[in-house]
Amino acid sequence: MAHPLAQLLVILGVPQSGGSSCGVTIPRAPGAPSALLEPLRVGEPDDLDLEDMLFSDPEPRDWENILRRCSQGGESCRTFGIEEWNLTSFNVLRHQGVTGKPCAEDFAVVQRMCGGPVACREIDGKRRVVGFSGEGRPDLNALSQLPHLFALELHGPRREDLQGQWPQSLRVLRLVAPHTGALTLAPTLRSLQIHGRQDNLRWTKIDFAALCGLNLTYFVAFAIEVAGGTLPDCWAGMKHLRNFYCSNCMMRLPPTALRGLHSLRSFVAFRQWEMIPCALRHVANASACKASWETQHETKAPCHVIAISGPSCQGHWSGDAANSDWGDFQEGPSFLCPEFSFSFPFEEFLKLDWPNIQKVWLDGNFLTGRIPENIGDLWPKLESLDLYDNNLEGPVPASLGSLPFLKLQLHGNRLEGRVPEPVMRLLDREHIQLGLQENPLLEGCAPQVGHWTNGIPGTRVRPCDEL
Ligand SMILES: *[C@@H]1O[C@H](CO)[C@@H](O)[C@H](O)[C@H]1NC(C)=O
Ligand SMILES: *[C@@H]1O[C@H](CO)[C@@H](O)[C@H](O)[C@H]1NC(C)=O
Ligand SMILES: *[C@@H]1O[C@H](CO)[C@@H](O)[C@H](O)[C@H]1NC(C)=O
Repeated sequence: MAHPLAQLLVILGVPQSGGSSCGVTIPRAPGAPSALLEPLRVGEPDDLDLEDMLFSDPEPRDWENILRRCSQGGESCRTFGIEEWNLTSFNVLRHQGVTGKPCAEDFAVVQRMCGGPVACREIDGKRRVVGFSGEGRPDLNALSQLPHLFALELHGPRREDLQGQWPQSLRVLRLVAPHTGALTLAPTLRSLQIHGRQDNLRWTKIDFAALCGLNLTYFVAFAIEVAGGTLPDCWAGMKHLRNFYCSNCMMRLPPTALRGLHSLRSFVAFRQWEMIPCALRHVANASACKASWETQHETKAPCHVIAISGPSCQGHWSGDAANSDWGDFQEGPSFLCPEFSFSFPFEEFLKLDWPNIQKVWLDGNFLTGRIPENIGDLWPKLESLDLYDNNLEGPVPASLGSLPFLKLQLHGNRLEGRVPEPVMRLLDREHIQLGLQENPLLEGCAPQVGHWTNGIPGTRVRPCDEL
């Protein structure tokens, strides 16, 4: 039986009737959209993953959720390695701090710097600035006059902007749309976030060797090009890294610099090279590319929101990125290409010796090979594994059933054989998201839970009364 996704060929240069996406046909999975093709959910698994919430600048509602979960402690407070919340985002500092105008000496500095939002804390009877989000060109020497500055967000910094003296108290830095080369050591940093521009065709190339010598606990990046396609060897010196998050980073080699990193709790590197349909036309070997799982299943916004201007393929979205030519691949149809993805055996990750890892997300990466049977021994603390939309084959290891999963997503692969009973028994957990659908060669039987009333969609797994 052919894999259903393999039949969804990308056809270039054929104008799509009724839609406009630079002539790129947007393939759909048969039967999509349909809730039946989604993973099976029991309880509230997403609500318990506080890592994602903490790193994405929690809004007041998310913050309440975090506090509520963590006041109950234990199982419901899953942060996947994050212990110091105030190192994760600017908004966390604001939620934890006090509101109102900062004291006169700090106010004078931020006013001169044409600042955006600030975060304040009461220190020695004064309202001091601990967080600052700059909109204009940064002046590090001025910022160094804020003696308690802990978190800094800079928009569009250039190399020369970051040459001065870094504030000694700085622990968190977020660079939004930095220019190439705008990365220098701020030796006291514990947490670094880089949000590249995605509204252009070529993402900003970042030389990760510039970060060597830092002692980071948390690292997050999005929509950049990691120079050399992997972490440089000198990242082996980052002995305390707990969370590494780099999605759409154009990495194509295993992160061997992180080998033996016992501090690592979370490694998130899904969809290394994702793009809007118009950008696909600029990929040399586009025949190897495919529409993302979300696109094939129409779980994102429909393609008619694209507006196209002219034959040079200047598509843009009417949503957030309204003013950009290259748009937001998270909002509408997107394609994935293997050239700058992890198109090698998944086993390479298991060889990296991460005994304390709790979360690994590698979906949409063209990963090949089997899921080794000893995964349960090598990663005994794994709670969240995302491998959907890859090219994995072979059996589902029974050892996965021994792990305390909150999320296990294996859908959209070429896994085969009987689903082991211990894996099916994961559905007895209070909260879990389990994705096994669309693996045409999977067999066996599944309990009739949720929408699995007629077995598992896109597999040969049939319903059974008892396991
Ligand atoms: C951040 O949290 C740590 C404790 O985890 C605390 O010592 C420090 O004062 C906090 N810093 C700010 C600026 O809130
Ligand atoms: C690096 O940071 C950790 C805390 O995450 C600290 O325990 C350790 O001493 C630091 N190492 C160096 C060399 O500064
Ligand atoms: C394009 O990609 C396909 C599939 O990965 C491969 O077989 C083919 O050799 C590639 N062609 C070129 C010119 O790189």
